[in-house]
Amino acid sequence: MKIKFLGHSAFLIEGSKNLLFDPFLTDNPVAAAKPYDLHPDFILVSHGHSDHFADALDIAKANDATIISVNELALYAMRRGANAHPMHIGGGQRFAEDLYVKLTTALHGNALIEEGLSQYLGVACGFIVKMDGKTIYFAGDTALTYDMKAVIGDFHRIDVALIPIGDNYTMGPDDALKAVEWLNPRIVIPMHYNTFPLIAQDGQAFAQKVEKLFPEKKVFALEPGQILEL
Ligand code: NI
Ligand code: MN
Repeated sequence: MKIKFLGHSAFLIEGSKNLLFDPFLTDNPVAAAKPYDLHPDFILVSHGHSDHFADALDIAKANDATIISVNELALYAMRRGANAHPMHIGGGQRFAEDLYVKLTTALHGNALIEEGLSQYLGVACGFIVKMDGKTIYFAGDTALTYDMKAVIGDFHRIDVALIPIGDNYTMGPDDALKAVEWLNPRIVIPMHYNTFPLIAQDGQAFAQKVEKLFPEKKVFALEPGQILEL
């Protein structure tokens, strides 16, 4: 399995299926891919904010890919002509013999701003993905929440946790450190930072703090374009 960081919260995970997460590319100053270079089977969208939903419709339509998200966002995507699979928090679904997706809570908003008007698209979510024998947790945009321990960490042996550390809109590095303790993943990849000055953080400093507190864990503060192979 290959996990490629595309910048901000956008990731491409290549395994028996190709999964694209929160494809913010066209307007992303640090994007490491062009939308037309990506050919996912599924696009997992955590919420409708412009730095997450972004290129999802175009990529879904160009590849006949299915958008997986909360019901309200999925129905919106279908109204706009894309394939989508509506789910909701706590619900899981098997999409292929070796691909299972479950939606998790994320403490965050979920609106799409179009022509200055907010269109509410339900609640924001995160994802537990089980593919090819690995368990990945993609937190989306979220505050630290005790669900990370009681609902997510205690029930899943997480191989890789993708968690925000940018602060301001999501958890910052200190809360993310507690999230690592609660989630108890083998590997951590920080995201949602350094895309613009408001969410500037030191990914390497975060990695050192985590690895000092939890020597058995590995943190990869990937640069956009970098790939982690599992
Ligand atoms: Ni957001
Ligand atoms: Mn965001």
